[in-house]
Amino acid sequence: MNMISIVDKYRRPIKDLRISVTDRCNFRCPYCMPAEIFGESYSFLDKATILSFEEIVRLAKIFVSLGVKKICLTGGEPLIRRDLQDLISMLSEIPGIEDLTLTTNGYFLAQKAEALKEAGLHRVTVSLDSIDDEVFQQMNGRGYKIKRVLEGIEKAASVGLSPIKINVVVQKGINDSTIVDMARHFKESGYIVRFIEYMDVGNINGWQLDDVVTARQILDMIHSEMPLQPLDKNHPGEVAERYMYKDGIGEIGIIASVSKPFCRDCSRTRISSDGKFYTCLYAGLGHNLRDLMRSGISDDELRNVISGVWTGRVDRYSEDRNVGLGSTSKKIEMYQIGG
Ligand code: GTP
Ligand code: 5AD
Ligand code: SF4
Ligand code: SF4
Repeated sequence: MNMISIVDKYRRPIKDLRISVTDRCNFRCPYCMPAEIFGESYSFLDKATILSFEEIVRLAKIFVSLGVKKICLTGGEPLIRRDLQDLISMLSEIPGIEDLTLTTNGYFLAQKAEALKEAGLHRVTVSLDSIDDEVFQQMNGRGYKIKRVLEGIEKAASVGLSPIKINVVVQKGINDSTIVDMARHFKESGYIVRFIEYMDVGNINGWQLDDVVTARQILDMIHSEMPLQPLDKNHPGEVAERYMYKDGIGEIGIIASVSKPFCRDCSRTRISSDGKFYTCLYAGLGHNLRDLMRSGISDDELRNVISGVWTGRVDRYSEDRNVGLGSTSKKIEMYQIGG
Protein backbone atom coordinates (compact mmCIF):
# COMPACT_ATOMS: atom_id res chain seq x y z
CA MET A 1 0.00 0.00 0.00
CA ASN A 2 1.32 3.48 -0.86
CA MET A 3 2.22 5.56 2.16
CA ILE A 4 0.92 9.12 2.16
CA SER A 5 0.42 11.72 4.86
CA ILE A 6 -2.98 13.35 4.94
CA VAL A 7 -3.99 16.49 6.85
CA ASP A 8 -7.33 17.81 8.09
CA LYS A 9 -8.95 21.22 7.53
CA TYR A 10 -6.55 22.84 10.03
CA ARG A 11 -3.56 21.10 8.44
CA ARG A 12 -3.18 18.60 11.27
CA PRO A 13 -1.73 15.24 10.19
CA ILE A 14 -3.10 11.91 11.41
CA LYS A 15 -0.35 10.36 13.50
CA ASP A 16 -1.76 8.68 16.55
CA LEU A 17 -4.41 5.96 16.51
CA ARG A 18 -6.06 4.76 19.71
CA ILE A 19 -7.92 1.48 19.36
CA SER A 20 -10.40 0.34 21.98
CA VAL A 21 -10.44 -3.47 22.11
CA THR A 22 -13.33 -3.84 24.57
CA ASP A 23 -15.95 -1.67 26.28
CA ARG A 24 -15.72 -3.79 29.45
CA CYS A 25 -13.75 -2.97 32.56
CA ASN A 26 -13.24 -4.61 35.94
CA PHE A 27 -13.08 -1.18 37.65
CA ARG A 28 -15.99 1.16 38.24
CA CYS A 29 -14.29 4.55 38.45
CA PRO A 30 -17.20 6.89 39.23
CA TYR A 31 -16.00 9.44 36.65
CA CYS A 32 -16.08 6.86 33.88
CA MET A 33 -18.29 3.84 34.66
CA PRO A 34 -20.32 4.65 37.77
CA ALA A 35 -21.35 1.39 39.51
CA GLU A 36 -24.97 2.50 39.80
CA ILE A 37 -25.25 2.63 36.00
CA PHE A 38 -22.88 -0.21 35.11
CA GLY A 39 -24.37 -2.88 37.36
CA GLU A 40 -24.79 -6.63 37.00
CA SER A 41 -27.52 -6.23 34.41
CA TYR A 42 -25.73 -3.72 32.19
CA SER A 43 -25.30 -5.17 28.75
CA PHE A 44 -21.93 -4.58 27.19
CA LEU A 45 -21.26 -5.19 23.52
CA ASP A 46 -21.37 -8.83 22.46
CA LYS A 47 -18.59 -10.64 20.65
CA ALA A 48 -20.16 -10.38 17.21
CA THR A 49 -20.49 -6.63 17.60
CA ILE A 50 -16.88 -5.85 18.41
CA LEU A 51 -14.10 -5.92 15.85
CA SER A 52 -12.15 -9.14 15.39
CA PHE A 53 -8.35 -9.00 15.54
CA GLU A 54 -8.26 -9.40 11.76
CA GLU A 55 -10.57 -6.40 11.32
CA ILE A 56 -8.48 -4.30 13.72
CA VAL A 57 -5.28 -5.19 11.86
CA ARG A 58 -6.87 -4.42 8.52
CA LEU A 59 -7.82 -0.95 9.75
CA ALA A 60 -4.46 -0.39 11.42
CA LYS A 61 -2.64 -1.06 8.14
CA ILE A 62 -4.81 1.44 6.32
CA PHE A 63 -4.35 4.09 9.00
CA VAL A 64 -0.59 3.55 8.91
CA SER A 65 -0.64 4.03 5.14
CA LEU A 66 -2.25 7.44 5.76
CA GLY A 67 0.38 8.67 8.23
CA VAL A 68 -0.26 6.96 11.59
CA LYS A 69 2.98 6.18 13.42
CA LYS A 70 1.75 5.39 16.90
CA ILE A 71 -0.88 2.88 18.00
CA CYS A 72 -2.24 2.73 21.53
CA LEU A 73 -4.54 -0.07 22.64
CA THR A 74 -7.19 0.95 25.14
CA GLY A 75 -10.57 -0.15 26.46
CA GLY A 76 -12.49 -0.15 28.77
CA GLU A 77 -9.73 -2.29 30.16
CA PRO A 78 -7.77 -3.77 27.24
CA LEU A 79 -6.28 -6.66 29.24
CA ILE A 80 -9.78 -8.10 29.62
CA ARG A 81 -9.84 -8.90 25.91
CA ARG A 82 -8.95 -12.56 25.50
CA ASP A 83 -5.65 -13.37 23.75
CA LEU A 84 -4.73 -9.71 23.40
CA GLN A 85 -1.11 -10.72 22.92
CA ASP A 86 -2.12 -12.30 19.59
CA LEU A 87 -3.40 -8.93 18.38
CA ILE A 88 -0.18 -7.29 19.54
CA SER A 89 1.89 -9.81 17.58
CA MET A 90 -0.12 -9.07 14.48
CA LEU A 91 0.15 -5.30 14.92
CA SER A 92 3.86 -5.44 15.67
CA GLU A 93 4.48 -6.86 12.23
CA ILE A 94 3.05 -3.83 10.44
CA PRO A 95 5.95 -1.78 9.05
CA GLY A 96 5.78 1.92 9.94
CA ILE A 97 4.49 1.69 13.51
CA GLU A 98 7.12 3.46 15.63
CA ASP A 99 5.32 3.25 18.95
CA LEU A 100 2.99 0.42 20.04
CA THR A 101 1.54 1.03 23.48
CA LEU A 102 -1.25 0.06 25.82
CA THR A 103 -3.11 2.01 28.49
CA THR A 104 -4.34 -0.21 31.33
CA ASN A 105 -5.62 0.03 34.89
CA GLY A 106 -2.83 -2.39 35.79
CA TYR A 107 -4.93 -4.98 37.57
CA PHE A 108 -4.00 -7.85 35.26
CA LEU A 109 -0.61 -6.48 34.31
CA ALA A 110 1.59 -8.62 36.56
CA GLN A 111 0.24 -11.80 35.01
CA LYS A 112 0.25 -10.50 31.42
CA ALA A 113 3.30 -8.26 31.12
CA GLU A 114 5.67 -10.94 29.94
CA ALA A 115 3.40 -12.20 27.14
CA LEU A 116 2.71 -8.61 26.05
CA LYS A 117 6.41 -7.84 25.81
CA GLU A 118 7.13 -11.06 23.94
CA ALA A 119 4.35 -10.27 21.49
CA GLY A 120 6.06 -6.98 20.62
CA LEU A 121 4.40 -4.33 22.78
CA HIS A 122 6.80 -1.43 23.32
CA ARG A 123 5.53 0.11 26.56
CA VAL A 124 2.56 0.60 28.87
CA THR A 125 0.77 3.50 30.51
CA VAL A 126 -0.94 2.63 33.79
CA SER A 127 -3.87 4.58 35.21
CA LEU A 128 -3.47 4.99 38.97
CA ASP A 129 -5.35 7.86 40.55
CA SER A 130 -3.90 7.81 44.05
CA ILE A 131 -1.16 6.29 46.14
CA ASP A 132 -3.41 6.40 49.19
CA ASP A 133 -5.11 3.03 49.47
CA GLU A 134 -8.39 4.39 50.81
CA VAL A 135 -8.66 7.02 48.11
CA PHE A 136 -7.70 4.50 45.45
CA GLN A 137 -10.26 1.98 46.66
CA GLN A 138 -12.94 4.62 46.44
CA MET A 139 -11.81 5.81 43.00
CA ASN A 140 -11.76 2.38 41.38
CA GLY A 141 -15.31 1.78 42.58
CA ARG A 142 -14.56 -1.80 43.53
CA GLY A 143 -12.51 -1.48 46.68
CA TYR A 144 -9.42 -2.95 45.01
CA LYS A 145 -6.14 -2.28 46.77
CA ILE A 146 -3.16 -0.55 45.19
CA LYS A 147 -0.73 -3.37 45.86
CA ARG A 148 -1.77 -5.38 42.85
CA VAL A 149 -1.43 -2.41 40.49
CA LEU A 150 2.01 -1.61 41.90
CA GLU A 151 3.04 -5.22 41.32
CA GLY A 152 1.80 -4.88 37.75
CA ILE A 153 3.90 -1.76 37.22
CA GLU A 154 6.99 -3.44 38.67
CA LYS A 155 6.52 -6.48 36.49
CA ALA A 156 6.05 -4.33 33.39
CA ALA A 157 9.29 -2.52 34.21
CA SER A 158 11.16 -5.75 34.82
CA VAL A 159 10.25 -7.13 31.39
CA GLY A 160 11.19 -3.83 29.72
CA LEU A 161 7.82 -2.27 28.85
CA SER A 162 9.38 1.16 29.34
CA PRO A 163 9.25 4.11 29.59
CA ILE A 164 6.34 3.52 31.91
CA LYS A 165 3.86 6.35 32.38
CA ILE A 166 1.36 6.59 35.20
CA ASN A 167 -1.84 8.55 34.55
CA VAL A 168 -3.54 10.33 37.45
CA VAL A 169 -6.92 11.96 36.83
CA VAL A 170 -7.20 14.73 39.41
CA GLN A 171 -10.63 15.47 40.90
CA LYS A 172 -11.09 18.24 43.41
CA GLY A 173 -12.05 16.99 46.84
CA ILE A 174 -11.46 13.37 45.82
CA ASN A 175 -7.73 12.83 45.27
CA ASP A 176 -6.15 16.29 45.13
CA SER A 177 -4.87 15.93 48.69
CA THR A 178 -2.79 12.95 47.55
CA ILE A 179 -1.08 14.60 44.54
CA VAL A 180 2.18 15.46 46.29
CA ASP A 181 2.45 12.00 47.85
CA MET A 182 1.92 10.48 44.43
CA ALA A 183 4.69 12.61 42.93
CA ARG A 184 7.02 11.84 45.83
CA HIS A 185 6.33 8.12 45.74
CA PHE A 186 7.41 7.80 42.09
CA LYS A 187 10.05 10.55 41.98
CA GLU A 188 13.01 8.20 41.93
CA SER A 189 11.31 5.27 40.22
CA GLY A 190 12.08 6.22 36.64
CA TYR A 191 8.33 6.16 35.85
CA ILE A 192 6.71 9.31 34.54
CA VAL A 193 3.65 10.34 36.53
CA ARG A 194 1.23 12.47 34.51
CA PHE A 195 -1.47 14.46 36.25
CA ILE A 196 -4.53 14.92 34.04
CA GLU A 197 -7.10 17.67 34.52
CA TYR A 198 -10.48 16.07 35.00
CA MET A 199 -12.29 16.46 31.67
CA ASP A 200 -15.91 16.90 30.61
CA VAL A 201 -15.91 13.80 28.44
CA GLY A 202 -19.09 11.78 28.06
CA ASN A 203 -22.49 12.54 29.55
CA ILE A 204 -22.75 10.50 32.72
CA ASN A 205 -20.13 11.72 35.19
CA GLY A 206 -21.83 14.99 36.11
CA TRP A 207 -18.65 16.95 35.39
CA GLN A 208 -18.52 20.53 36.61
CA LEU A 209 -15.78 23.08 36.06
CA ASP A 210 -15.57 23.31 39.83
CA ASP A 211 -14.33 19.70 40.02
CA VAL A 212 -11.20 20.59 38.05
CA VAL A 213 -7.89 21.22 39.76
CA THR A 214 -5.95 23.18 37.17
CA ALA A 215 -2.50 22.34 35.87
CA ARG A 216 -1.23 25.52 37.54
CA GLN A 217 -2.59 24.43 40.92
CA ILE A 218 -1.18 20.92 40.55
CA LEU A 219 2.23 22.29 39.61
CA ASP A 220 2.26 24.75 42.50
CA MET A 221 1.45 22.01 45.00
CA ILE A 222 4.32 19.81 43.83
CA HIS A 223 6.77 22.64 43.17
CA SER A 224 6.42 24.05 46.67
CA GLU A 225 7.62 20.75 48.14
CA MET A 226 9.92 19.49 45.39
CA PRO A 227 10.99 22.28 43.00
CA LEU A 228 10.42 21.69 39.29
CA GLN A 229 11.64 23.14 36.04
CA PRO A 230 10.06 22.85 32.58
CA LEU A 231 11.37 20.53 29.88
CA ASP A 232 10.89 20.79 26.11
CA LYS A 233 8.26 18.69 24.43
CA ASN A 234 9.42 15.34 23.06
CA HIS A 235 7.48 15.94 19.87
CA PRO A 236 4.90 18.40 18.51
CA GLY A 237 1.39 17.39 19.49
CA GLU A 238 2.47 15.80 22.77
CA VAL A 239 -0.40 16.32 25.20
CA ALA A 240 1.64 16.50 28.39
CA GLU A 241 3.74 19.45 29.47
CA ARG A 242 6.92 17.99 30.89
CA TYR A 243 8.79 19.00 34.04
CA MET A 244 11.85 17.64 35.78
CA TYR A 245 12.77 18.04 39.41
CA LYS A 246 15.46 20.65 39.94
CA ASP A 247 17.60 18.14 41.80
CA GLY A 248 17.84 16.23 38.51
CA ILE A 249 15.99 13.13 39.69
CA GLY A 250 12.62 12.40 38.16
CA GLU A 251 10.17 13.74 35.60
CA ILE A 252 6.43 14.45 35.66
CA GLY A 253 3.86 15.52 33.10
CA ILE A 254 0.76 17.66 33.34
CA ILE A 255 -2.09 17.29 30.87
CA ALA A 256 -4.02 20.54 30.89
CA SER A 257 -6.85 19.48 28.60
CA VAL A 258 -9.31 21.89 30.25
CA SER A 259 -7.31 24.97 31.24
CA LYS A 260 -4.93 24.93 28.28
CA PRO A 261 -6.39 22.85 25.46
CA PHE A 262 -4.11 21.49 22.77
CA CYS A 263 -6.47 20.97 19.83
CA ARG A 264 -4.16 23.04 17.63
CA ASP A 265 -1.74 20.12 17.28
CA CYS A 266 -4.21 17.28 17.75
CA SER A 267 -3.20 14.44 15.47
CA ARG A 268 -5.09 11.76 17.42
CA THR A 269 -7.89 9.59 16.22
CA ARG A 270 -9.84 6.77 17.79
CA ILE A 271 -11.66 3.57 16.93
CA SER A 272 -14.24 2.20 19.36
CA SER A 273 -14.44 -1.53 20.02
CA ASP A 274 -17.44 -1.79 17.70
CA GLY A 275 -15.48 -0.27 14.87
CA LYS A 276 -16.58 3.35 14.79
CA PHE A 277 -14.04 5.95 13.81
CA TYR A 278 -14.03 9.10 15.99
CA THR A 279 -11.99 12.17 15.10
CA CYS A 280 -12.31 13.79 18.55
CA LEU A 281 -12.52 12.62 22.14
CA TYR A 282 -15.71 14.65 22.41
CA ALA A 283 -17.33 13.51 19.19
CA GLY A 284 -20.98 12.58 19.20
CA LEU A 285 -21.01 10.45 16.10
CA GLY A 286 -18.49 7.98 14.77
CA HIS A 287 -18.14 6.62 11.25
CA ASN A 288 -19.07 2.97 11.16
CA LEU A 289 -16.08 1.21 9.59
CA ARG A 290 -17.13 -2.21 10.88
CA ASP A 291 -20.27 -2.37 8.75
CA LEU A 292 -18.35 -1.19 5.72
CA MET A 293 -15.81 -3.97 6.24
CA ARG A 294 -18.53 -6.55 6.80
CA SER A 295 -20.33 -5.51 3.64
CA GLY A 296 -17.26 -6.36 1.57
CA ILE A 297 -15.66 -2.96 0.89
CA SER A 298 -12.20 -3.12 -0.71
CA ASP A 299 -9.07 -1.78 1.01
CA ASP A 300 -8.84 1.08 -1.48
CA GLU A 301 -12.42 2.11 -0.91
CA LEU A 302 -12.02 1.86 2.85
CA ARG A 303 -8.91 3.98 2.65
CA ASN A 304 -10.82 6.60 0.66
CA VAL A 305 -13.56 6.71 3.27
CA ILE A 306 -11.08 7.13 6.16
CA SER A 307 -9.06 9.69 4.27
CA GLY A 308 -12.24 11.60 3.36
CA VAL A 309 -13.32 11.78 7.01
CA TRP A 310 -9.93 12.99 8.17
CA THR A 311 -9.42 15.56 5.42
CA GLY A 312 -12.82 17.04 6.32
CA ARG A 313 -12.07 17.13 10.05
CA VAL A 314 -12.68 20.41 11.87
CA ASP A 315 -12.78 19.17 15.50
CA ARG A 316 -11.37 21.36 18.22
CA TYR A 317 -13.84 20.78 21.00
CA SER A 318 -11.72 21.81 23.97
CA GLU A 319 -10.63 25.10 22.43
CA ASP A 320 -14.21 25.87 21.41
CA ARG A 321 -15.53 25.01 24.87
CA ASN A 322 -13.22 27.51 26.47
CA VAL A 323 -14.61 30.32 24.35
CA GLY A 324 -18.20 29.29 25.00
CA LEU A 325 -18.67 27.32 21.81
CA GLY A 326 -18.70 23.58 21.39
CA SER A 327 -21.50 21.13 21.07
CA THR A 328 -23.70 20.21 24.00
CA SER A 329 -25.18 17.25 22.18
CA LYS A 330 -24.54 13.69 23.26
CA LYS A 331 -20.85 12.78 23.42
CA ILE A 332 -19.14 9.42 23.24
CA GLU A 333 -18.25 7.95 26.64
CA MET A 334 -14.60 7.53 27.66
CA TYR A 335 -14.96 3.78 28.34
CA GLN A 336 -16.03 3.33 24.71
CA ILE A 337 -12.92 4.96 23.24
CA GLY A 338 -10.44 4.70 26.09
CA GLY A 339 -9.24 8.27 26.42
P1 GTP B 1 0.11 6.52 26.12
O1 GTP B 1 -1.14 6.55 26.95
O2 GTP B 1 1.11 5.56 26.60
O3 GTP B 1 -0.17 6.42 24.67
O4 GTP B 1 0.86 7.85 26.42
P2 GTP B 1 0.66 9.10 25.62
O5 GTP B 1 1.47 10.20 26.20
O6 GTP B 1 0.92 8.88 24.20
O7 GTP B 1 -0.89 9.27 25.87
P3 GTP B 1 -1.64 10.50 25.51
O8 GTP B 1 -0.72 11.59 25.80
O9 GTP B 1 -2.18 10.34 24.13
O10 GTP B 1 -2.86 10.53 26.49
C1 GTP B 1 -2.77 10.70 27.85
C2 GTP B 1 -4.09 11.19 28.38
O11 GTP B 1 -4.31 12.53 27.99
C3 GTP B 1 -5.27 10.46 27.80
O12 GTP B 1 -5.48 9.27 28.45
C4 GTP B 1 -6.37 11.46 28.00
O13 GTP B 1 -6.84 11.46 29.32
C5 GTP B 1 -5.66 12.76 27.70
N1 GTP B 1 -5.81 13.04 26.28
C6 GTP B 1 -5.16 12.35 25.32
N2 GTP B 1 -5.52 12.77 24.12
C7 GTP B 1 -6.40 13.74 24.30
C8 GTP B 1 -7.11 14.55 23.39
O14 GTP B 1 -7.01 14.41 22.19
N3 GTP B 1 -7.93 15.46 23.91
C9 GTP B 1 -8.05 15.62 25.21
N4 GTP B 1 -8.86 16.60 25.59
N5 GTP B 1 -7.39 14.87 26.11
C10 GTP B 1 -6.58 13.93 25.67
N1 5AD C 1 -10.91 13.16 32.55
C1 5AD C 1 -9.58 12.93 32.40
N2 5AD C 1 -9.06 11.72 32.18
C2 5AD C 1 -9.90 10.69 32.14
N3 5AD C 1 -9.68 9.38 31.96
C3 5AD C 1 -10.88 8.75 31.99
N4 5AD C 1 -11.88 9.62 32.18
C4 5AD C 1 -11.29 10.84 32.29
C5 5AD C 1 -11.79 12.16 32.50
N5 5AD C 1 -13.09 12.41 32.66
C6 5AD C 1 -8.35 8.79 31.84
C7 5AD C 1 -8.19 7.47 32.49
C8 5AD C 1 -6.99 6.92 31.80
C9 5AD C 1 -6.99 7.60 30.48
C10 5AD C 1 -7.16 6.66 29.35
O1 5AD C 1 -8.05 8.53 30.51
O2 5AD C 1 -7.97 7.52 33.86
O3 5AD C 1 -5.79 7.19 32.46
FE1 SF4 D 1 -12.07 1.29 33.71
FE2 SF4 D 1 -10.32 3.15 33.00
FE3 SF4 D 1 -12.92 3.70 33.04
FE4 SF4 D 1 -11.66 3.35 35.32
S1 SF4 D 1 -11.27 4.99 33.84
S2 SF4 D 1 -13.66 2.46 34.77
S3 SF4 D 1 -10.17 1.78 34.78
S4 SF4 D 1 -11.93 2.24 31.69
FE1 SF4 E 1 -8.15 16.62 19.83
FE2 SF4 E 1 -10.75 16.86 20.23
FE3 SF4 E 1 -9.05 16.63 22.31
FE4 SF4 E 1 -9.12 18.87 20.86
S1 SF4 E 1 -10.77 18.07 22.14
S2 SF4 E 1 -7.29 17.79 21.55
S3 SF4 E 1 -9.54 18.06 18.81
S4 SF4 E 1 -9.49 15.09 20.72
